[in-house]
Amino acid sequence: MRTLSLLAVLCLAAAKLAISARHDINRYAVKRHVHELADAYDFVIVGGGTAGLTIADRLTEAFPEKNLLVVEYGQVEYAPGTWDPPKVVWGETGGGAGTWQLSSTPSPELNNQTAFVIVGKTVGGSSAVNGMVFDRGSRHDYDAWDKLQDDTHDRPRWNWNTLYPFFKKSTTFTVPPLEVVKKHNYTWDLSAWGNSTPIYASMPPFQWSDHQTVRDAWIEMGIHNMKECADGNKENLCWVPCSADPIMMRRSYSGLGHYAYVSNWTNYHLLVKHQGVRLVYPGGNPKAGPPIVEIRSVENGTLSNVTARADVILSAGVFGSTAVLQRSGIGPATFLKSLNIPVVLDLPGVGSNLHDHSGPVVSWNYVTTPDFHGPMPSDLLNTTFTAWATAAFNETPAQGPYTLAMSNSAIWISLVNMTADAPAIISRIRSLSNSNGTLYLPPEYGSDPTLVAGYRAQLSVLAELLGNPHAPSLESAIATGTRLAACALHPLSRGTVRLNGTDRLSSPILDYRSASNPIDMTLHLVHLRYLRKTVHTETLRRLTAVEVAPGVDLQTDEQLIKYIRAQTTQSYMHPCCTTAMLPLNQGGVVGPDLRVHGASGLRIVDAGIYPILPSAHLSATTYAVAERAASIFIEQWRK
Ligand SMILES: Cc1cc2nc3c(=O)[nH]c(=O)nc-3n(C[C@H](O)[C@H](O)[C@H](O)COP(=O)(O)OP(=O)(O)OC[C@H]3O[C@@H](n4cnc5c(N)ncnc54)[C@H](O)[C@@H]3O)c2cc1C
Ligand SMILES: *[C@@H]1O[C@H](CO)[C@@H](O)[C@H](O)[C@H]1NC(C)=O
Ligand SMILES: *[C@@H]1O[C@H](CO)[C@@H](O)[C@H](O)[C@H]1NC(C)=O
Ligand SMILES: *[C@@H]1O[C@H](CO)[C@@H](O)[C@H](O)[C@H]1NC(C)=O
Ligand SMILES: *[C@@H]1O[C@H](CO)[C@@H](O)[C@H](O)[C@H]1NC(C)=O
Ligand SMILES: *[C@@H]1O[C@H](CO)[C@@H](O)[C@H](O)[C@H]1NC(C)=O
Ligand SMILES: *[C@@H]1O[C@H](CO)[C@@H](O)[C@H](O)[C@H]1NC(C)=O
Ligand SMILES: *[C@@H]1O[C@H](CO)[C@@H](O)[C@H](O)[C@H]1NC(C)=O
Ligand SMILES: *[C@@H]1O[C@H](CO)[C@@H](O)[C@H](O)[C@H]1NC(C)=O
Ligand SMILES: *[C@@H]1O[C@H](CO)[C@@H](O)[C@H](O)[C@H]1NC(C)=O
Repeated sequence: MRTLSLLAVLCLAAAKLAISARHDINRYAVKRHVHELADAYDFVIVGGGTAGLTIADRLTEAFPEKNLLVVEYGQVEYAPGTWDPPKVVWGETGGGAGTWQLSSTPSPELNNQTAFVIVGKTVGGSSAVNGMVFDRGSRHDYDAWDKLQDDTHDRPRWNWNTLYPFFKKSTTFTVPPLEVVKKHNYTWDLSAWGNSTPIYASMPPFQWSDHQTVRDAWIEMGIHNMKECADGNKENLCWVPCSADPIMMRRSYSGLGHYAYVSNWTNYHLLVKHQGVRLVYPGGNPKAGPPIVEIRSVENGTLSNVTARADVILSAGVFGSTAVLQRSGIGPATFLKSLNIPVVLDLPGVGSNLHDHSGPVVSWNYVTTPDFHGPMPSDLLNTTFTAWATAAFNETPAQGPYTLAMSNSAIWISLVNMTADAPAIISRIRSLSNSNGTLYLPPEYGSDPTLVAGYRAQLSVLAELLGNPHAPSLESAIATGTRLAACALHPLSRGTVRLNGTDRLSSPILDYRSASNPIDMTLHLVHLRYLRKTVHTETLRRLTAVEVAPGVDLQTDEQLIKYIRAQTTQSYMHPCCTTAMLPLNQGGVVGPDLRVHGASGLRIVDAGIYPILPSAHLSATTYAVAERAASIFIEQWRK
């Protein structure tokens, strides 16, 4: 009991710091003009987002005698994300300050619809604007990353066992108050968590009153309630913390936990409102690094150069880092030549391997609106309720609906557990991997044997993952309401990211090619058929639920495929893998020490280096990857 109350006091102090830091963030030592910079830096990090600020914090701490610069496109600001209050109606889209809102080119298999993708453009990057679902993938996901690397003996290993300590290091989990635990039946296993870094994982004190209904429906379907899902065993029905501080339940993100709280280092400069344009290698020789970093003022377009003595680290996110490389002449030679960009390094993998979580929805109505005996999102249309919600959010500790971000519970289900057809689907994937037939890849892959080899290797690993009864293929999250997304966790389709030839400084062109591999359509079908069972459970039928979408009239594969083509969300905001950690002869861009293949003084650390997606939202993995990367870099630089 004593330990608990001491913990509560500590958390309260931390929470107060979080609030004051947010209001006073401008007093921190931010640079806005190039004339404020040093002549040279040991480390230059391009992109002050989730990974970039984590690395910067660790390097600065490890090397107080060296100096470091982070160049960030966005502003140091509080950039409310889609899920940050105050809101008129819960879930309403945020204002878009601090984000890029991108559209892909049309995806032919999905009726030429475009993917809509939001990307953080602010100090803290996407962690400053995301949905705050703070989950880790399955151990099998990260073990799959390891299987895709070549078998050099002394390489750093990337698998669950090597990442788990960094997952723990990267966050602080706080035990929720007893009354909250009792109210929602929250469970956890403290041994999966750490408490050394002020990036907080916390359980919200609030749930909408219809929330338990869907959980009950899932339990009725035989899905077990798990005690903890952050320990590598990511399956069944899970509680997931929000990335929020434990008392005030405000967003916890890298801009606070890895910058504002630690910004007093004199060796650490953060330059905002500047874009990393390109890297310039002396004489165009990629072995003569580290490269010079050319930066551009976002305000007036003025270009300047920054010199790195040891390493340049790209952490500009999946699209940002890809664009910087391509502008630098590091990427697919044929494409670079088509834009008259001198080829410094022919790396076909730069901008390939794009994939994301996607899927259609299942929805229902109640014939007779049930009384859920408590608050419902519709209450937020009532100004009296909203005033209460706002006041409750400003209490200490915070209460009420605004403490719950997007959702904090979801199911993760394996293919094997959803369909008896799983073995047939797996064997289709295996035969695709081994065949000489079409791999449904982007035309750009055609001429490059390394990209094709890398993709075949991915297929083989994905067949193993999807055949594993403990490795999920479907995620569906619930907070409230009558809509569930059938999110496909391990897609086979691959897209590309390419500079826009007419405006190279702008965001690149995303070609999602969603469902271009027909097996993805089969996976969506399985997920949809399984998830719609939720609506037909006794639990929901008792409450007069009737299926609205896809709708009971749609039963055949043909009908459901037509529905999927029309109703699939192509991005659940988890783009990844376009600068993948894979061997060079497998279309990789970085090796296991995150150095760019064939380039010196250049590393990449962001969600672009994942070889394949994990079964999780990406921020927790990105923090853990950045923590592990920092420890690898520090060890190497100490030598
Ligand atoms: C709307 C939304 C909702 C999401 N929901 C969740 C969720 O609920 N849970 C979860 O875990 N994950 C979620 N994610 C995903 C997760 O937040 C991201 O995958 C992760 O934060 C990516 O980290 P990163 O370091 O790769 O990139 P980022 O955090 O995006 O950082 C990249 C940084 O680089 C900057 N930058 C880009 N280009 C340049 C340049 N040329 N020069 C200088 N700076 C540049 C950007 O401004 C940004 O600050 C969501 C993402 C979004 C956008
Ligand atoms: C351009 O903007 C930067 C950053 O705001 C400023 O330092 C610089 O003086 C400006 N240059 C010109 C030519 O206006
Ligand atoms: C998608 O666009 C292409 C090119 O414009 C066109 O040929 C095709 O018919 C379109 N498909 C659908 C389903 O509209
Ligand atoms: C919590 O668990 C108890 C005991 O298992 C059960 O009686 C109660 O209904 C549960 N409450 C919720 C909200 O699930
Ligand atoms: C930063 O360091 C200076 C000098 O060491 C000190 O005076 C100041 O209070 C510190 N600021 C913060 C926010 O810790
Ligand atoms: C940066 O350095 C490169 C290589 O020396 C040079 O080509 C370029 O013009 C420089 N840019 C600026 C803005 O000084
Ligand atoms: C609005 O909310 C208040 C407080 O919860 C409640 O008393 C009132 O009846 C609600 N008004 C309407 C129109 O629902
Ligand atoms: C699949 O079902 C088995 C047996 O019920 C269960 O142990 C396992 O946790 C389930 N896993 C997933 C990912 O669905
Ligand atoms: C594809 O065909 C070529 C030539 O017939 C052969 O050398 C190669 O091994 C085949 N590859 C696969 C994966 O079957
Ligand atoms: C490329 O940039 C131009 C100029 O900004 C813009 O009009 C066009 O829409 C962009 N193309 C794509 C596919 O985004």
